Amino acid sequence: MRYGHFDDSNREYVITRPDTPLPWINYLGCEAYFGIISNTAGGYSFYRDARLRRITRYRYNNVPFDFGGRYLYIRDNDNGQFWSPSWQPTRSKLDKYECRNGMGYSTISSSFAKIDAQTCYFVPLGETLEIWKLQLTNRRNKPAKISIFSSIEFCLWDAQDDATNFQRNFSTGQVEVVDGVIYHKTEYRERRNHFAYFACSAKLAGFDTKRDTFLGPYRSWDNPAAVERGKSFNSIAHGWAPHGSHHVKLNLKPGETKQIIFVLGYHENPVDQKFAPPASQTINKKTVKPVIAKYLDAANVDAAFQKLREYWDSVLGIYQANSPDVHTNRMVNIWNAYQCMATFNMSRSASFYESGIGRGLGFRDSNQDLLGFVHMVPARARERILDLAATQLKTGGAFHQYQPLTKRGNNDIGSGFNDDPHWLILGVGAYIKETGDWSILDEPVQFENEPGSEQPLYEHLRRSFNYTLERLGPHGLPLIGRADWNDCLNLNCFSDTPGQSFQTTTNKDGKVAESVFIAGLFVFAAKELATIAAKRNLNDQSMQCLKEAEKMEKVIYRHGWDGAWFVRAYDDFGKPIGSKKCDEGKIFIESQGICVMAGIGLRDGKAKRALESVNKHLATRHGIVLQQPVFSKYYIHMGEISSYPPGYKENAGIFCHNNPWIIISETMLGNGARAFDYYTRINPSARENIGDLHRCEPYVFAQMIAGKDAPTHGEAKNSWLTGTAAWTYFAATQWILGIRTSYDGLIVDPVIPAKWKTFTVTRRFRGNTYIIEVKNPKAKQRGVKNLIVDGKELPGNLLPISPPQPKPIHVQATLAG
Ligand code: GLC
Ligand code: GLC
Repeated sequence: MRYGHFDDSNREYVITRPDTPLPWINYLGCEAYFGIISNTAGGYSFYRDARLRRITRYRYNNVPFDFGGRYLYIRDNDNGQFWSPSWQPTRSKLDKYECRNGMGYSTISSSFAKIDAQTCYFVPLGETLEIWKLQLTNRRNKPAKISIFSSIEFCLWDAQDDATNFQRNFSTGQVEVVDGVIYHKTEYRERRNHFAYFACSAKLAGFDTKRDTFLGPYRSWDNPAAVERGKSFNSIAHGWAPHGSHHVKLNLKPGETKQIIFVLGYHENPVDQKFAPPASQTINKKTVKPVIAKYLDAANVDAAFQKLREYWDSVLGIYQANSPDVHTNRMVNIWNAYQCMATFNMSRSASFYESGIGRGLGFRDSNQDLLGFVHMVPARARERILDLAATQLKTGGAFHQYQPLTKRGNNDIGSGFNDDPHWLILGVGAYIKETGDWSILDEPVQFENEPGSEQPLYEHLRRSFNYTLERLGPHGLPLIGRADWNDCLNLNCFSDTPGQSFQTTTNKDGKVAESVFIAGLFVFAAKELATIAAKRNLNDQSMQCLKEAEKMEKVIYRHGWDGAWFVRAYDDFGKPIGSKKCDEGKIFIESQGICVMAGIGLRDGKAKRALESVNKHLATRHGIVLQQPVFSKYYIHMGEISSYPPGYKENAGIFCHNNPWIIISETMLGNGARAFDYYTRINPSARENIGDLHRCEPYVFAQMIAGKDAPTHGEAKNSWLTGTAAWTYFAATQWILGIRTSYDGLIVDPVIPAKWKTFTVTRRFRGNTYIIEVKNPKAKQRGVKNLIVDGKELPGNLLPISPPQPKPIHVQATLAG
């Protein structure tokens, strides 16, 4: 069954019924102020950090699943009937409903009792506020007297504390209501210099700021007392739960449309100008007032919305494909790129499956996210790289996570994930290939956020490389530490105590368990670093990288090849994991993908053999599972991976993140049809028709799809914030469509299904726009031998970097096989 459809020309997904299998969400804001909004207006907002600067409260895992959000109520004052134009929370039977999720905005439209309502939610660029633009139309043939109530629940800033520390928090809440604007100022009296505000463009009939008064005792969002009786209480919150609700009364003539704008925002005052008058406890509103006034004006709101549309035109315009496959086109051109922006901004912190209080930004996650983001806003990618590198340890290891607000490494989780440092090399490589900005390597960057410890970024990469060489195990393979990419393969954990963290519990000295995955990643990263060093004329260092990569390759051949695939790891007893010798978990996906991407086994058929094994043992029609056979019980020496019931998450789920590694590997062998087939299996747009099984949004990738050992095989979970976003984008754009960045220019090397006759890609790159037309008259899967560039033949498949030209450069390429 379908719950909506794509509107590609508007870059929207149109949800046509509110009762989607799960809340289908969207993100508002792409800079500093963010909101999550569901198709029934659920969700919350925060400034920069979903944990430390939460603006509105949200209860995760609620009943119903998604309850609480940016709610509006419409009340017919003639008969007292009221409803929510976003369906939730009243869930009244709407005559019409539609939610259009677009790039940075969501518009929910509905009709009830012949009153049409349309609310557009968005965050203007450059601002720390969100707009709800409500438009109401009376479709009746008589006048309508209606009331509008808005409703949000303020969070007392630290979302973790807010949800737990009630003995204090029930006494701290404070608000001000001035000129119809509701100000939330809990803790402003002491150490905070920020507050939130909620304003409305219409004349108010009343307001409420006490949640419990607005709702009434023993009531919930679906039946607030103020709405039922048609009149606010003008309550002023002291402690308990500060809330924001405006009451507006409207008369609509038959056919008449009126508009109301709500502005919810975050504002900071200079520390020494918090109060006005200075001796008072009243918020100084001098700098916030003009902002509020600006966005209560419809013309400014419309202009800001237009700017947002133009911003996305420009960002998405950097890479546009026109292929024979509609699912590829809409993912590459619209949704996957958009999801890459969300994952770059949020890492894995705030979605409907990440509570925003648990995790900061992951070191490995954020570096990988760059692969899908770096072309969109390179300046922000640069900043992120430098922030990440500053949390690197002097040993070359890395804090596994950091909090975006403080930019400091997170001590709770610490370090010791031995793959982490290598992703920095790959992230930096991707950045330089896109931008040509070699100067980033000379930027002085701290270690462990310690002033005075600054070294050029290049030195950080060197330490990443050395980190592994200094931590080799009995077979000469890298020691795994707490875990490698697979957070759940915990070979030094040996936990038998409920509740212990698999990631931070270490009961072994860590000198035995090794990772073939890290070995492959090391080779991958060492080759990248070798190229970077060579470009900087550091030939000795470049040679050293290559020499060590070659040495590691030999070790992989000796101890990491199992006859038909690459071994996954060695456990604390020195026994292989992911080998035919094992009873369960004989073959894993990760080592196949990473070793082939690192170029291991390309010449002697081992790569091909490994990928055949993947196809035979791991591929399902819903994607490629992580390992087989599934772990049927808990293995103390393997940790969290075997804690999951069969078919879920890392225990033989389709962990989508690593599927593109196989897709890329297949393209490296020239198997366009198979690469594309694997891509399509997890492509959410191609899964739209099986919405009742898939359940997550059909416009973004999910972290996981249940594997073949699960009773729910094919069901997706954890949509939005996943490394799948960047890697599938990277695989589709750079390896299948094959328009690939390199240090020397743009490579044109498509690897596609033979039946594709032609496709085009428009790519803005280093100041030029390339319109690349690929032709495939002989039904090949790969093989560009030369290029026709603005009518002139160029041997090979590289478009060298050239000075910016005013006109697009036309390129033709033909697959010759
Ligand atoms: C999650 C983590 C990521 C890890 C993956 C596999 O997606 O965010 O860091 O690599 O799981 O365990
Ligand atoms: C849990 C998840 C895993 C994630 C890890 C991050 O173990 O199952 O996917 O990577 O937490 O800490």
